Amino acid sequence: MATRNARYDEVADWYVGFTRDWSAEARPLLPSDLSGQQVVDLACGLGDLSRLLASSGASVTAVDLSTNMLARATDQGEAQALGIRYLVGDVTTTSWWDGEPFDGAVCNMALMDIDDLDAAFATAAHVLKPGGWFSYSLLHPCFPGLRESASEQLSSWPPDRGYAYEGWWTTQGDGVRGRVGANHRMLSTYLNATLRAGFEFEEFREPAAPMPRFLVVRCRRGAA
Ligand SMILES: C[S@@+](CC[C@H](N)C(=O)[O-])C[C@H]1O[C@@H](n2cnc3c(N)ncnc32)[C@H](O)[C@@H]1O
Repeated sequence: MATRNARYDEVADWYVGFTRDWSAEARPLLPSDLSGQQVVDLACGLGDLSRLLASSGASVTAVDLSTNMLARATDQGEAQALGIRYLVGDVTTTSWWDGEPFDGAVCNMALMDIDDLDAAFATAAHVLKPGGWFSYSLLHPCFPGLRESASEQLSSWPPDRGYAYEGWWTTQGDGVRGRVGANHRMLSTYLNATLRAGFEFEEFREPAAPMPRFLVVRCRRGAA
């Protein structure tokens, strides 16, 4: 059961036109062969990455807090009949989980939206099989990348506070920061949270751009 505030309920229609290419950034750090794998998409939003995974042969469970985002994901998923199981749930808990462990997990462009980072990583570790893979992508925490208007790109952190300031912030702009808000955390905070949950790093990717917009990480749950 969803217990937290689903901020994206209010902006689901706008979001449909906003982020069409985001799942492509995660593709290079997914296993090359997904056939037969049980994969969970944590904070799946409109389900773009869920559909990419399912069309590559994975059996996909897709979880999100926002019923409005899931309603739009379901519309698009049905059109492709990919058999994705969509669940309303809070990924900082395992209340949505049926106890069947997954081979892999993704969390695409959503950790900034999740207030309890350690709880989200703990969930990912908990629902994976020992040795299971986890690939996540972020708005890069170290560089300007968030488009607020046609002419302005923001850093991940509030310009008046500095990189070391961590927390939720919003703007008056017309992008995600203006319409929803997001958390800024230092790079070390994300990496340390990954380690604290028992993951081992496998690969990092900063898709080529004059200023990297995304950071993509693949890690693996320890075998123990
Ligand atoms: C920026 S969207 C990204 C969605 C999608 N993964 C994508 O690649 O487009 C962030 C999503 O995180 C979801 N979210 C935020 N906190 C959550 C939580 N605690 N549990 C589940 N979903 C959450 C929001 O509802 C929203 O759909």
